[in-house]
Amino acid sequence: MKNGLAIYPGSFDPVTNGHLDLIERGAKIFDRLVVAVLCNLEKAPLFSVEERAAMLRETTQSWANVEVDVFAGLLVDYAQKRKASVILRGIRAISDYEYELQMAMMNRKLGPNLETVFMIPAEAYSYLSSRLVREISRLGGPVEGLVPPVVEQRLRAKVF
Ligand code: PNS
Repeated sequence: MKNGLAIYPGSFDPVTNGHLDLIERGAKIFDRLVVAVLCNLEKAPLFSVEERAAMLRETTQSWANVEVDVFAGLLVDYAQKRKASVILRGIRAISDYEYELQMAMMNRKLGPNLETVFMIPAEAYSYLSSRLVREISRLGGPVEGLVPPVVEQRLRAKVF
């Protein structure tokens, strides 16, 4: 079965072990997986889009069919440009569902040929988010086991 190219979009500020778990699962299902980092000019991220993409590249290099890219503007436009047929998103808990449903429906309206596929990360990561990682790190707590070592180092190097 051919599953084509899927795009896994997100802020990845920073990438967590939960994201990596989902990337690994997605890379097994799709022929090619593009991890697309949103360059959002309205939000003030902790890491620049280049830093976020660099951390993702470093942590996904062992998966030959995974590529990291950066995008701005509408996701559907980017997906069309990349000739992707699927948007991959992770759902951790029921609390994610409403936001994800709204986005999936809106993306379907904007790009009817694009399917959103949801995957569930390993249970161990069901409570993990980039927002919590940033907060713990800012307050001096340990993030070991929540993010890959390269992200741990970069968080430690950040001056909050
Ligand atoms: O990791 P996040 O912040 O939950 O990812 C959200 C993301 C990047 C997938 C979403 O904000 C997005 O696709 N932004 C691009 C702009 C866009 O297409 N907006 C309409 C979405 S319905």
